Order: sequence, then structure tokens, then C-alpha cells
Amino acid sequence: MSKTIQAVRGMNDLLPETTWVWQHVESIAREIFSQYGYGEVRLPIVEKTELSERSIGKVTDVVEKEMYTFIDRNGESLTLRPEGTAGAVRAGLEQGAFYNQVQRWWYQGPMFRHERPQKGRYRQFYQLGVEAIGLSGPDIDAEMIVMTARLWKKLGLLNRLSLEINTLGTPECRKAYRELLVAYFTQHANQLDEDSQRRLQTNPLRILDTKNPAMRDLVNAAPKLADHLDEASRQHFESLTSRLDAVGIAYVINPNLVRGLDYYAHTVFEWVSGDLGSQATVCGGGRYDGLIGQLGGQPTPAIGFAMGLERLILLLETLGLLPEVPLPTQVYFIVMGEAAERQGLVLAEQLRDALPHLHLMLHAGGGGMKNQFKRADKSGAQLALILGEAELAKQEVAIKSLREEKPQVLVPFAELANYLAQVFA
Ligand code: HAM
Repeated sequence: MSKTIQAVRGMNDLLPETTWVWQHVESIAREIFSQYGYGEVRLPIVEKTELSERSIGKVTDVVEKEMYTFIDRNGESLTLRPEGTAGAVRAGLEQGAFYNQVQRWWYQGPMFRHERPQKGRYRQFYQLGVEAIGLSGPDIDAEMIVMTARLWKKLGLLNRLSLEINTLGTPECRKAYRELLVAYFTQHANQLDEDSQRRLQTNPLRILDTKNPAMRDLVNAAPKLADHLDEASRQHFESLTSRLDAVGIAYVINPNLVRGLDYYAHTVFEWVSGDLGSQATVCGGGRYDGLIGQLGGQPTPAIGFAMGLERLILLLETLGLLPEVPLPTQVYFIVMGEAAERQGLVLAEQLRDALPHLHLMLHAGGGGMKNQFKRADKSGAQLALILGEAELAKQEVAIKSLREEKPQVLVPFAELANYLAQVFA
């Protein structure tokens, strides 16, 4: 026998026992997003490489080290999307959806980053993301955060996640601050780790985001962007925090929160869990007022976030909050012999018409009574319907409880739907 083929490292299979939980979480999120007026967009998984480079930024980890990029048969450089914001902006511009309009969009699907896989970090992972385009005020920033809080509450997670927020100000004040930061870290260059020395040249703000505990004191003593904000940025942020206070959402202002993608300005935020180990950010986002102009559109303000579904589900699992998986089968239909199989097919279809919510599995694959009962038991069904030659002759089905000690009953074909409707009422 030849060796079986394995999945690509960092890319996971999800089987029905797991997808049930995913669907549950997704359906709650979908409901909440539509409560707030967001509509779903479905966008390509593959985009031109240039799109990521021009939006996420050439000197970010994602673009420098993590993209799945390939040359297609036409010689064009394409990339599996590492995130959804760039594609959403590209689509909106291409479809003329942003011109003098506000859009509230959400999306869901796989993203790809060639990171080192570990718990909570994968190479194909799923995001649920939201983008609000055409709105510049702190009102939408606040509502977006409130919307995420509603989702955590619905999932039982609100007191297990903490909200960190920060403002990155405008590109102009960030530029001046960047110079201060470079001067500061250059003075202490001997204390920088290798990664930070590289970032000092390319993306010094990212040094603030270091996870290296040895650099914590150095980073904490660095100049703060908050002390170098322009008035409008300061007001935007204060207005956001006052709205969060009003609605009773707790937050921590983390001056070192800079996010890993270059398109952010003003508000940035993350929801972080203390129960997940190092991959603790369940949801992250912020304002990207410059991006649409950068990608060739009219300057248009926008804000969004995305959450990692694996991390969210891992968290539910860690906290014992996974919903109980309902048994996929309630009734297992045993059919003995070809005539009964034929009649069983007809009856099963009639039952599915009459009782659309019933989970009915019709036995397939033949075999004896014992074998079929084994399958029935394994299916988790409560009831077995049995149609053999004797029952067929009398136009009846025998019904046996698989979980309780109860006598078997015989039910005429014509009364079967009513009978089951009562049992599963
Ligand atoms: P991000 O912070 O790069 O932001 O990713 C958002 C979330 O996706 C993370 O908080 C995390 O939960 C999940 N995630 C990221 N990488 C991985 C991975 N390798 N494995 C598992 N989960 C992962 C964005 O992607 C922005 N597009 C969010 C946004 C939308 N900003 C504005 N609009």
C-alpha cells in the first residue's frame, strides 16, 4: 500500500462534530451583525500580490515573511489572502460601492499566513470580519466595539476577555513621534533584541508591540504617542472612551498597542484572553482612514475588525462553554430486503415532507437485522423504525425505543407522521 498523503502543516480538517460548534458560533455572529445593519460580502480568496503589499505594508511581518504567493499560469503574482480588509476595500472600489455611500459589511472565511504553527496559530485560519466604510466619527468606533461585546456576552465570554484600546493618531503626528522613538531606541540600541534592531530601521512603532519580556522596561520607558497627539486625534479618542464609559464597557488603554498591519490610524483595539497562552488576541481591529486613498480611491474613512474563529472556539472549549452537540439523528429507519428498502425510501421521503425538522436516517448498505440495529444504536437515534417483510405485508412499521425499556409498537404507514410528530413534539 502506498503512503497516505497528509494535510499541509498548519492547515486543519474540521469534521462534523466540530463544524457543528463553528456553525453555532457563526450563526450567533451573523445574527448580531445583521441586528446592527451589516450585510455579508463574499470575496475572492486569491488577490493580486500587489494588493497586500500596498495595503498591509511592505515592511510588516505579514508581507515580508508570511504570504503564500505564487506565479499563476499567466505569469501573474497572486497571493492567498492573509486578511480580509484589503480585499474588501479593493472590491468596494472596483464595484463603485464607496462613492458617496456608507457601507457596513461583514465577511467570513479562510485566511493564510505562513507563520510557525502552534496552539491558536495556524497557516490556514478562519476570520469573521466587519468593515464600516465612509464613517469618520468615534460614534461608529464605539458601536463597533459594543457590537463585539454583545457577541462575547451571547457566547458567555464577556468577563473572560479584556478590551485594550489605543489611538495611533494621524499619519502626521505619528511621523513626528516616530522620529522621537527612533532617537530613543537608537540611544538604547544595545538593549534591543535582533527583531527590534531590524524594526528600528523599518517599522520602529512595532518595537512597542514586542512580546520579549527582556525588553519590557525599555519599551515602557519609551516616549508615548499619547503625549504627542494632535488635538483632533485626542478628541476623537476621548469621545470614544466617553461612549464606552456610557455604555458600561470596561477597557484598558494600552499605549503600546500598535497592531501588526500598517494601514491603521486613530483608534485601534484588541480583545485579549488570559486563558489562551501566547496566542491571546481573539479579535483585533481599528480605523484605517488612509487605506482607501492609498489604494487609489477618494480618501474615505473606515474602521473594522476581525476575530479568529479557531481562537474563539478554543477559548469556549478551554472554559467549558461549548454548546452540547445535538445528536444528528433522532430516528433510524431499518429496512430488511429490497421491497422494504423501496417502500422505506418512499416513507422516509413522506416523513421528511411532513416533518421537516425531524432528523431521520434511512439505513443504506443492506445487511441483517443485527447489523442494522448496531448502526441505529451508533447513530445516537432515540427510535428505530423497522420495516421487514411481515410489516410490509400489513402496511405497518414497527417502532422500537433504542434508549428506554419500552414495548415495541406497530404503527400503520398512514399514521407514522402523526405518531413521530407527537413523540418529538
Ligand atoms: P489581525 O490582527 O491580523 O487583523 O487578525 C485578526 C485576528 O485573526 C487575530 O486577532 C486572531 O484572532 C486571528 N489570527 C490572525 N492570525 C492568525 C493565525 N495565524 N492563526 C489563527 N488566528 C489568527 C486583521 O486581519 C485585520 N484585517 C482586522 C481588521 C479588519 N482591521 C480592520 N478591519
